[in-house]
This record gives sequence, structure tokens and C-alpha cells, in this order.
Amino acid sequence: MAKLQILDHPLIQHKLSLIRQKDKGAKEFRELVEEIAMLMAYEVTRHLPLKEVEIETPVTTATTKMLEGKKLAVVAILRAGLGMVNGFVKLIPAARVGHIGLYRDPDTLEPVEYFSKLPQDVPEREIILIDPMLATGGSASAAISLLKNKGARLIKLVVLVAAPEGVERIQKDHPDIEIYTAALDQGLNDHAYIVPGLGDAGDRFFGTK
Ligand code: URA
Repeated sequence: MAKLQILDHPLIQHKLSLIRQKDKGAKEFRELVEEIAMLMAYEVTRHLPLKEVEIETPVTTATTKMLEGKKLAVVAILRAGLGMVNGFVKLIPAARVGHIGLYRDPDTLEPVEYFSKLPQDVPEREIILIDPMLATGGSASAAISLLKNKGARLIKLVVLVAAPEGVERIQKDHPDIEIYTAALDQGLNDHAYIVPGLGDAGDRFFGTK
């Protein structure tokens, strides 16, 4: 079953409480989302392999550790996922960035791909799929299927706020995926908003409310 990890670092929890507040404007919201994304990037890259390197400090030579150079790709689900990209690439500048756009078919209510641009070597990369809100899980599940169809083998889903319904959907559709979230909220309301949530993440980030 897909493993769920709640990233309970105090800074993440504090900043998440700030962006949940309805009086936070787009400027503050953006800055905080970027900071939270950066902190989450720190947490989800703990497993990255290191190699020993010989370096010269101003004092002596030394054997120290650096990243082995595992290939990563950060893939944002449009549009709200864009808000988390900067935080991730600031910490992982060598990561490639991909984008997946999905809309909900009004008749079937199923997500349909309208855009995707991914690194060519997806099968060789570990994919960090980002979207702030895991609500019903429909978009995230479709994005994971798309990535798997392109050959992705290692995918981590990173969200700010998850609803139990979304987590269950991913665990059912993609039991091999690790899910990282800053919070597991109560559930969804009648409009598929996460409760207590933070509202529409895309609108709040882009100021389009
Ligand atoms: N998408 C959002 O932006 N917010 C929610 O609460 C659910 C889906």
C-alpha cells in the first residue's frame, strides 16, 4: 500500500497554519508556499545517495560527501502545482521540471490530459510529483498513470494538504507510490474542497479569486 508520510517539521506546520488563514494575500501566500515547498524538498530528499569526494579546504585535504548525482525530475500538476516548483528547484537546482495539465470532462467527470511536457529520460529519473491539494485524488491518480505510461518507475507524490479520500484513491490506484503531505485534513465538503483546507490553492497563489 502507498506509504503516507506526514511531514510534521515545526516550521512546515507553522507556515501551513499561516497560509490556511483566509486573510493572507497572494504575496504572502506565494512566499510561504515556496518556503514550505523548500522545507518539504529537504524532507523528501533524505534518501538521496552520497559519494565520497576528495576536496581541499583552506586548511588541508579531506574526504567528504557530496550527492552521487541521482537524476530527479520535479513534475507540477497545472496550475496550482506551479506554486511549489521554485521551492523545490532552489534546493535541487539540477532537477528537470515537467508539467502536466488536466481538466475534468464535464460529462464523465474524469480528468483529461490537455498538456504534458516532461523530460525525455523519465524512466531514468526519480519523479517528485507536486500539487498542493490532494482532494478526490482524481488528478493525481491520472498524472501518476500518465507518468507510468511514459516509463516512470519511481514516483513520490508531494502535497501540502491531503484529504483521506484522496489518500485512499492513490493507495487503491497506485499502491507503489509514496505520498508526502504536510497535513491530513478531515475530508471533503460537497464542492470537493478540503476541510478545513486552505481554499482554492491556485486562486490564492495567483490572486485570481
Ligand atoms: N483544490 C484546491 O485548490 N482546494 C481544495 O480544497 C481542493 C482542491
